[in-house]
Amino acid sequence: MATDFTEETAADAVVDSFAKTPDPRLRELLSSLVRHLHAFVRETEPTIAEWERAIEFLTATGQKCDDERQEFILLSDVLGISMLVETINNRKSGGATESTVLGPFHVVKSPRRELGESIDFVGTGTPCVVIGRVLSADGAPLPGAELDVWQASDQGFYDVQQPDVQPRANGRGLFTADADGAFWFRTIVPSHYPIPTDGPVGTLLLSTERHPYRPAHIHFIVTAPGHRALTTHIFVAGSPYIESDAVFAVKKSLIKEFSLVEDPEQAARYGLAGSFCLANFDIILQPAAEN
Ligand code: BEZ
Ligand code: FE
Repeated sequence: MATDFTEETAADAVVDSFAKTPDPRLRELLSSLVRHLHAFVRETEPTIAEWERAIEFLTATGQKCDDERQEFILLSDVLGISMLVETINNRKSGGATESTVLGPFHVVKSPRRELGESIDFVGTGTPCVVIGRVLSADGAPLPGAELDVWQASDQGFYDVQQPDVQPRANGRGLFTADADGAFWFRTIVPSHYPIPTDGPVGTLLLSTERHPYRPAHIHFIVTAPGHRALTTHIFVAGSPYIESDAVFAVKKSLIKEFSLVEDPEQAARYGLAGSFCLANFDIILQPAAEN
């Protein structure tokens, strides 16, 4: 028997319509989504024009997506949803290194490089060395751990954003930790940069007077047999926007000093001639069994 639609019973009616969904998790997700959406509409009472504007915005977000651009992920990023999902799915266990968002600039395979090699092929910017060890939660080194690294240039662009300026794979490298789990590579100190603003997400930021910047960072995906893969960044301490990342991805434990070293002997150890910045990042992976 049909029941009257009322503001008070609408959510229940829709939730009931999913009662026969065979997959219980799908039923749970849809029911909760409907309840939250209905509560939002009842609380804010959008006008018809506002609702149409919202549909237009979501339509434009979808239309901006293609093989290289994912505007919906960007929307999820600036609403803090990407970080929330990431954090829930990687709850910190013991002293394990914290995770953060993947972002859209990861490419499937960074070029393999030897420990100590540089990932910078442009030569502007402040030389920098990143060192550290990959360890298991019990402190045991993880020899052979793989570190996929990528970063923006000192001008705040990834190689893929500047194909005519940066050589392909500039700022990228795949490294294998040594027998002590140690790794080290040369690069330049990355710059803060804006996320893409030429789509609906840019319009949203503009109309809410939010800036589009991310603080300077270096991305890592670290893997080792028997351990959970870790997707994370190190953030450059003191970078502009460290307190107001446009995608809410900063965790305090991931902010690292990039300390100026002026000692020629240390520089020579890393194949450098002058002063450089040194960042130290020890990475602790969780055993896969804790999944
Ligand atoms: C990035 O760090 O590469 C990134 C993350 C989220 C949105 C845009 C860029
Ligand atoms: Fe990035």
